[in-house]
Amino acid sequence: MHFAFDRAERGNMCGIVAYIGKKDATPILINGLKRLLYRGYDSFGFAVMNEKNNIDYFKKPGRLDEEEKNLSKMGLEGATGISQSRWATHGEPNQVNAHPHVDCREEIALVHNGIIENYATLKAWLKEHGHKFRSDTDTEVIAHLIEEHNNGDLLKAVQKALSLVEGTYGLGIISKHEPNTLIGARKGSPLAVGVVKNGEYILASDPAAIIEHTKKVIYLDDGEVVKLTRKGMHITNLENKKVQKQAQEIQWDLEQIEKTGFDHFMLKEIFEQPQTIENAIRGRALINENRIQLGGVSDWLDFLTNVDRVVFLACGTSWHAGLIGEYLFEHIAGIPSEVEYASEFRYKSVPIDTRTAYFVISQSGETADTLESLRKIKQGGAKVFGIVNVVGSSITRETDAGVYLHAGPEIGVASTKAFTSQVTVLSQLAILLGVRRGKAVPKEVRSRIDALVKIPLQVQEILDQNEKIKQLAQKYYKFNNFLYLGRGFNFPTALEGALKLKEISYIHAEGYPAAEMKHGPIALIDENMPVVVVATDTEDVIYQKVVSNIEEVKARSGNIIAIATEGNESIKDLVTEVIYVPKTNGYLTPLLNVIPLQLLAYHIAVIRGCDVDKPRNLAKAVSVE
Ligand code: G6P
Repeated sequence: MHFAFDRAERGNMCGIVAYIGKKDATPILINGLKRLLYRGYDSFGFAVMNEKNNIDYFKKPGRLDEEEKNLSKMGLEGATGISQSRWATHGEPNQVNAHPHVDCREEIALVHNGIIENYATLKAWLKEHGHKFRSDTDTEVIAHLIEEHNNGDLLKAVQKALSLVEGTYGLGIISKHEPNTLIGARKGSPLAVGVVKNGEYILASDPAAIIEHTKKVIYLDDGEVVKLTRKGMHITNLENKKVQKQAQEIQWDLEQIEKTGFDHFMLKEIFEQPQTIENAIRGRALINENRIQLGGVSDWLDFLTNVDRVVFLACGTSWHAGLIGEYLFEHIAGIPSEVEYASEFRYKSVPIDTRTAYFVISQSGETADTLESLRKIKQGGAKVFGIVNVVGSSITRETDAGVYLHAGPEIGVASTKAFTSQVTVLSQLAILLGVRRGKAVPKEVRSRIDALVKIPLQVQEILDQNEKIKQLAQKYYKFNNFLYLGRGFNFPTALEGALKLKEISYIHAEGYPAAEMKHGPIALIDENMPVVVVATDTEDVIYQKVVSNIEEVKARSGNIIAIATEGNESIKDLVTEVIYVPKTNGYLTPLLNVIPLQLLAYHIAVIRGCDVDKPRNLAKAVSVE
């Protein structure tokens, strides 16, 4: 069993492709899905209407592009079909949970991108009405709802079913009862109809799957349902009112579409952060109730509240998130905390303590050292919790419970959006446990949650300074060494800033707790060593000390790039460059401060001509030792 998670999340993380026309649907669907793999790739499936007007389907866990052999054996033939490449949000990525999903009689098949929030209620109701479920997914309820309301008109049955559904969906639906029809519907998850010609259409969650067949697309809007037949197209709303829509020309080429117009996945992922942080907060930081709710650990709150200490284990960027976790748990929840490199921990003679909560943090959920550390802890009889992005990954299967990031697939090797989501989850855990341990008074909790929900907009404000940061990169890209300094919550931010630069631009960069500078790195400082200083917490006692460090660098002709809080004018006189970030509650500053550091590293790497998304010698998931 993989661990539980909050159901109130929304996700647009799967790719769907469907076809109706005169050609063989399967090769079109396979090619289309291959184009969408960047959206999610833990399982895939197809359903095609055969010549006897029955639905044949095939689905499987794994990556579509690694399964060529299986695909040639699928034996699906017909000119109407649907398909999906999945990025799991409900239920692990196994065969049963893969799409398409079908009704009781296997007469209706559908693929879905999105999340049905009221699926548990609908499922219970449908079961009472005799429906038999096969999977753990939220999606399957839609197939049964359509079956329940099918009175001979598929479009009406779909409209009725969707009026009962809360959540998000992009859907492709076929039914044995109307074998010459393909239905699409959209709410909150993108869906477009590619018009190859009148009577031939490709329905897809993303124009990347359409563009090789046609540049003419109709983007559906929320609440719209499209009925596609070999005679034409008919678009309505859920109340069956006809909607008129104009086709548009796709302007982008394929690569631009996959990267939604960004030059690299890394930049796309940096710019997704307002949304991904929002995803990590939604349904969890309940501002009206002044509390945090984390469904994935709700059964473990008594244990977590009463532990003697917490140990975070991770590698790479996730380890930096763990370091911030240490500061957060100690400061907000009053829990003694430690952070371990998973690679060190797994070989250490360390006593496993059952009164300690161990947290493994991992984007991929597959990092070998992290996984082995988790196994070692379990063998020692202690409890392990996960903070993971990839649903159903090995770590989620072996941990006792955990919290998902819901950041969507991260393709750029250097982690960006997963990091800010990890810190967002850790912040919420710290608040939750702080309240339970009697460490935080309601007023304090309110100001923390207030500040947290503002973060996505503030991140956007920083992203709006992208051009300015790009210009800065122009000025600094030739240097061969950088030093990054920060203190407190932002000591790990400095480490992460240095790691980003190192990973993608191959410039040597070191992160240091600012005050440690005088114990070594200061010897390196001259006009050839730019120093990036995170100096935001103006109200904190350590701010003045960071200012002293800045003076020390300045005295040695160092160029200083400061990350400072908006309104701090005086810092301008001390440093060479300032990048301003909005003001927030101290504990959240890493979430803002890391953004300009990600952008700076990105632009420097691009100017130096590096392969940003696939830096040399690095792998996205290090699943071997
Ligand atoms: C690799 C990646 C890093 C990542 C680290 C840990 O080194 O290149 O971006 O931070 O692994 O991976 P995980 O999936 O466990 O977070």
